[in-house]
Amino acid sequence: RIVHLADYRPTDFVLERVDLTFELDPTETKVEARLIFHRREGVDAAAPLVLDGDDLTMTSLLFDQIELDPARYTATPESLTIRDLPESTPFEITVVTMINPEANTQLMGLYRSNGIYCTQCEAEGFRRITYFPDRPDVLAVYTINIIADKAANPLLLSNGNFLGGAGFGPDKHFAAWFDPHPKPSYLFALVAGDLGIVEDTFTTMSGREVALKIYVEHGKEPRAAYAMDALKRSMKWDEEVFGREYDLDIFMIVAVSDFNMGAMENKGLNIFNDKYVLADPETATDQDYANIEAIIAHEYFHNWTGNRITCRDWFQLCLKEGLTVYRDHEFSADMRSRSVKRIAEVRHLRSEQFPEDAGPLAHPVRPTKYREINNFYTTTVYEKGSEVTRMIATILGRDDFKKGMDLYFERHDGDAATVEDFVKCFEDASGRDLTQFSLWYHQAGTPQITVSSAYDASAKTLTLSLEQMIPATPGQSNKEPMHIPLRFALISENGSEATASSIAGGDVTGDVLHLTQRAQSFTFSGIGSRPVVSLNRGFSAPVTLHFSQSAEDLGHIARHDSDLFARWQAITDLALPALTDAAKTVRDGGSVTISDAFVGVLLAIAADETLEPAFRAQALTLPSEADIAREIGGNNDPDAIHAGRQAVLMAIATAGTDVFRTLYAAHSASGPFSPDAAGAGKRALKNIALSFLSLAENSPALAAEAFGRADNMTDMSQALTILAHRFPDAEETKQALIAFETRFAANALVLDKWFTIQATIPGAASLDRVKALMTSPHFQPTNPNRVRSLVGTFAFGNATGFNRADGAAYAFFAEQILAIDPRNPQLAARLLTAMRSWRLLEPGRADKARAALTTIEASTTLSTDVRDIVDRILKG
Ligand code: ARG
Ligand code: ZN
Repeated sequence: RIVHLADYRPTDFVLERVDLTFELDPTETKVEARLIFHRREGVDAAAPLVLDGDDLTMTSLLFDQIELDPARYTATPESLTIRDLPESTPFEITVVTMINPEANTQLMGLYRSNGIYCTQCEAEGFRRITYFPDRPDVLAVYTINIIADKAANPLLLSNGNFLGGAGFGPDKHFAAWFDPHPKPSYLFALVAGDLGIVEDTFTTMSGREVALKIYVEHGKEPRAAYAMDALKRSMKWDEEVFGREYDLDIFMIVAVSDFNMGAMENKGLNIFNDKYVLADPETATDQDYANIEAIIAHEYFHNWTGNRITCRDWFQLCLKEGLTVYRDHEFSADMRSRSVKRIAEVRHLRSEQFPEDAGPLAHPVRPTKYREINNFYTTTVYEKGSEVTRMIATILGRDDFKKGMDLYFERHDGDAATVEDFVKCFEDASGRDLTQFSLWYHQAGTPQITVSSAYDASAKTLTLSLEQMIPATPGQSNKEPMHIPLRFALISENGSEATASSIAGGDVTGDVLHLTQRAQSFTFSGIGSRPVVSLNRGFSAPVTLHFSQSAEDLGHIARHDSDLFARWQAITDLALPALTDAAKTVRDGGSVTISDAFVGVLLAIAADETLEPAFRAQALTLPSEADIAREIGGNNDPDAIHAGRQAVLMAIATAGTDVFRTLYAAHSASGPFSPDAAGAGKRALKNIALSFLSLAENSPALAAEAFGRADNMTDMSQALTILAHRFPDAEETKQALIAFETRFAANALVLDKWFTIQATIPGAASLDRVKALMTSPHFQPTNPNRVRSLVGTFAFGNATGFNRADGAAYAFFAEQILAIDPRNPQLAARLLTAMRSWRLLEPGRADKARAALTTIEASTTLSTDVRDIVDRILKG
């Protein structure tokens, strides 16, 4: 069954109120739902009420408190249809379903993990709890009663404000919660169990005190301190930057260990994958801290962008996700270094979203059809959706963007809105026509922009000619030209950023060129000497530029641009040809050399003490093997790419040994650990220096010493990565792996790092290593984090191992997908996307990848989730 955006229509019945009573039991939970409806005006009097279900067993059905005649309804596990309903008066139905939380391995709906009852209802999990109009445009006020065994479940939590509680029989107790804000079912949450608590308060801008509570497993409370701090900073920031105040008396976060995604923004009761809550210096890396800060903020920001204003239907997912990612990006930029954050965002976009947009799973930011909505929680909807919001801000400018956001909150509070509603607010607030711009929501594919520049010394003009091409994507062969905002600067020989006296040929506002036609030229006059063009500064548009700038010009940008992002981009533009050439050279059996100019720029930046360490670490982190594969564009040999990249790294290590030694020494004395951006930047620079030094010395000694001395998880895991990836067979590596495993045997989240580091050791031998690790007592095949840390990182992050030439890893992976799917389809489908770029491999590997995919496709028992992905990957 395919769902189409064009088929949207409102429900026939309006839901007025929801009262739910849960009698919790590990295997037989009773759910009583009392729902009050009335027929929507104008709806045919004969229309039945049809409610969604998924795998439900109904044990009783009352209509206005009286048992309903079986002739008036049909109940199946997938739906409940009730006929002969009143024409206009409200009526009440009371339905009882029995569910089994222990047996819920899909982790959708109500499930029990490590003795904790919890829920995940987005997108369509609520229908696994009770029959319901389970769609985001049905908003209602909920009252929740929870009854459970008191000893095992001292905590009984749900959305909204706590109404009260009491004993219930000899061993049970109950609690009642009321959420005054109308909400869709996907925001419902319930948690029960025995957990530790960290408490704080936040006083909102209007002076209301909000109780903040983070629930974690007993004993882990100290590790929730950073999350609490991030929450308070998020609340403050949303008041200051977006004028958004929290709206309940209490805000709760619960950390659970079995969770399919990162976290969920349930109203007043966010539920998190514990990986994004728990942190201390001994067990969490700087990246973990940054992720926690970003995800705590993301879920909190959803309270307005997602909850107060929700989505009309799931096609509008980017309305809440793209916007909320944009908001969390801005938050992190304000908390940390804006440029370094931007570089990390762009790296992520290019490595995850660009391949999606260029492959068989490409879809618009706002799709028009889906077979399984869970497969549309993608980097296109999230990250490209965020970029589209960022472009609105770029086009409108700060003030008009703010006015548009204010108007959106004012106009749509309480609504289930659409992307059109959102865009209209910016048009109304700014007076700009965003019709062409809106194509960003509708046309899939990363725009390719070819640029050339011509300087005329006698006329003192510079002409920039641009041409845009949007590649064909599944279901979309012809594309219209888009409105692409490109931030730019003209950098003169002495490094100053010239502003042109006049520009002709198109719309230019401030430092933004608005490319709106298929081909367009901009002529700058009054330019006294040939400038270097810095284009798409700050990555103002999520596009690929094809602009053959000379190595001198790129070096000039890398050294002089005032935009740090542009400097990093220029380094990348210098590095990529060196890396693709190296891959070709290796393939042809030659020996790799790299230009002194490139190494010179890189080392100059590494040694430049005026630049922040985090930026220098980013500059020294060369494009990944996946980046190189994408640049080559097809017929890829992952072994050659890897070997070529290693040769380039070795050349840099050799040329820069002195620089790296100095950096390593200067940043080694860490002082007391602080997880802030400055501390993280120093560690990043020190550790990349360590990695180059280890390479230059071709010895595990330095890394082994760093491992032994590390007093925080960032340094420890970096040292272990260098040992395992560069010296997999060294005695030092074996010992470090054992020491790490022993020390953290009781900490599953840290053991995930141990799995990941080993699963990503390059080379064909990694398959056997992964297979062996699956028999480790630490590996739990039912826990999504464990599976992702071992099987997921192997498939997504180990190009040489996963793509070994004999195809054995693809076959292994297909077996894993088929084993995971019956238990947890969402997890299986997400993992399988690792094979989306199989057509870019050289023919030998591509054939073997196709064979593995065909094996999956041949299974007759696939979930809709996996069926959808495998079909699209094979077809597109
Ligand atoms: N809304 C959640 C978030 O981004 C993610 C929910 C993912 N749901 C899913 N079915 N994949 O914060
Ligand atoms: Zn979200």
